Amino acid sequence: MKLLQDVVFITGGGQRIGAFLVKKFLTETHYPVIFTYRTPRIQVDELVALGAIAIQVDFMAKASLPDLVKSLQARVSSLRLVIHNASLWLPDAMGTDKLQGVEGECFDSLFQLHVNTPYFLNNALQPLLEKSTSPLKDVISISDYSVERASSQYIAYLASKAALQNMCKGFAKKFAPTIKVNDIAPALILFNEGDSESYKQSRLAQSALGIEPGPMVVWQAVQYLMNCSYTTGTVLPLEGGRSLL
Ligand SMILES: NC(=O)c1ccc[n+]([C@@H]2O[C@H](COP(=O)([O-])OP(=O)(O)OC[C@H]3O[C@@H](n4cnc5c(N)ncnc54)[C@H](OP(=O)(O)O)[C@@H]3O)[C@@H](O)[C@H]2O)c1
Repeated sequence: MKLLQDVVFITGGGQRIGAFLVKKFLTETHYPVIFTYRTPRIQVDELVALGAIAIQVDFMAKASLPDLVKSLQARVSSLRLVIHNASLWLPDAMGTDKLQGVEGECFDSLFQLHVNTPYFLNNALQPLLEKSTSPLKDVISISDYSVERASSQYIAYLASKAALQNMCKGFAKKFAPTIKVNDIAPALILFNEGDSESYKQSRLAQSALGIEPGPMVVWQAVQYLMNCSYTTGTVLPLEGGRSLL
């Protein structure tokens, strides 16, 4: 099998923002795209039909990370970009129900997904990033702007996203000068299915621009970070003027 060169690798690409980024890379760039998904969906099949390679992974499973790296090494000779997008937006009180586990697992699961996984992948994938033929090579994580404001209901989620932001700075130092490492910290990008009209209105009122921008703005931020040769170790707020109000 011919190994793929200068691949874009995205975690959690099976839906919403991740799927949008996968599709944009497939349709607007020459980079081959590999993404992970956990839940099978028509959207995953559609992205595969467009030319992406999809790898099913549940990052909660212990062996998933070394297995994923082996699977990438078997297909890829170099990586142009790694995007840590996979995420779980979980209030502290819902930890037990949603993850069907005992109390406390919520915290561990969020850290497994937002901290352990990118930490392991950054270290394991550094050699493949170094081999990219592109003069610019990038790692981009997606955290959350709410880290700045904190919340009494999302303490574990935001603590794990804060760790992700800090890790971006550490890896930016470690990987310089060859690989840039940055983070995008979004406020509202996309509502979730089932969000009530009153919730939507209250969220829209929280930013100066007052819109639900959709995933295009994440794509624009990714393009900026990939193309700027002088930006590393930054947390880029993507928040529509949330900090102004
Ligand atoms: N949407 C917003 O307004 C917003 C605001 C602030 C920050 N963000 C950040 O932006 C990124 C994308 O947001 P989004 O709304 O598109 O997220 P999303 O719809 O929740 O999708 C996240 C993806 O992560 C994957 N994932 C979750 N747990 C996993 C696990 N244990 N193993 C493997 N994959 C797992 C899911 O995979 P499956 O679906 O395949 O199970 C899902 O596709 C996230 O990092 C999020 O925190 C989004």
